[in-house]
Amino acid sequence: MNSAFNNIQACVFDAYGTLFDVHSAVAKHRDAMGDQADQLSMLWRTKQLEYTWLRSLMGKYTDFWQVTQDALDFALETVGLDKPELRDDLMQAYLELDAYPEVIDVLKKLRASGMRTAILTNGSPDMIAAAVENSGIADLLDACLSVESVGIFKPDPRIYQLAVDSLGVDASNISFQSSNAWDAAGASSFGMRVAWVNRFGQSVERLPGNPDAELRDLTSLPDLVARNA
Ligand code: LAC
Repeated sequence: MNSAFNNIQACVFDAYGTLFDVHSAVAKHRDAMGDQADQLSMLWRTKQLEYTWLRSLMGKYTDFWQVTQDALDFALETVGLDKPELRDDLMQAYLELDAYPEVIDVLKKLRASGMRTAILTNGSPDMIAAAVENSGIADLLDACLSVESVGIFKPDPRIYQLAVDSLGVDASNISFQSSNAWDAAGASSFGMRVAWVNRFGQSVERLPGNPDAELRDLTSLPDLVARNA
């Protein structure tokens, strides 16, 4: 029993990397890329995140769809795969990312136990709506919250505040799940209870904020947040 997760009223999820496999976009078009596929996918994701942090620091917000395109253009040029058709296919695939295999079952269990569920994401409303619809989890979520309404990216504290305000639940009664360790640190530093979904076996970030639990995937989450009767 992890007492940090007593009295949880809502489970809030990061989207990309946590519910949705960002590398499934490149995986679907691997044949068109050959040996550079993995490098492209890693670079695309890394640049996408860097651009969110840099734009936030610069005070130059633009939506995550644009950031994702900019990052892809950088990555395609870097690996020498400047093909317009491939670019279009990869952006389309980003709207149809695979959900991780345990996601539907975990959301169903949480909802059956009376838990509220939400996404809190950098993703712009259209792109996250497409991914949610495509993966069949729309009916399993109470809210889908995008940074778009605030105009800055994670881990700005105003983004985590958006979940508190939208759900009407105190930060200490929210369990936030992210596979992105820096996002987990941001939510913890803000005051949420945090389960870091360490899907990729990464090292602990040396940042403020300390996740309350480390999971390999989301399977054990319903037990972790099960309310004491
Ligand atoms: C998101 C990114 C951080 O969904 O993965 O917000």
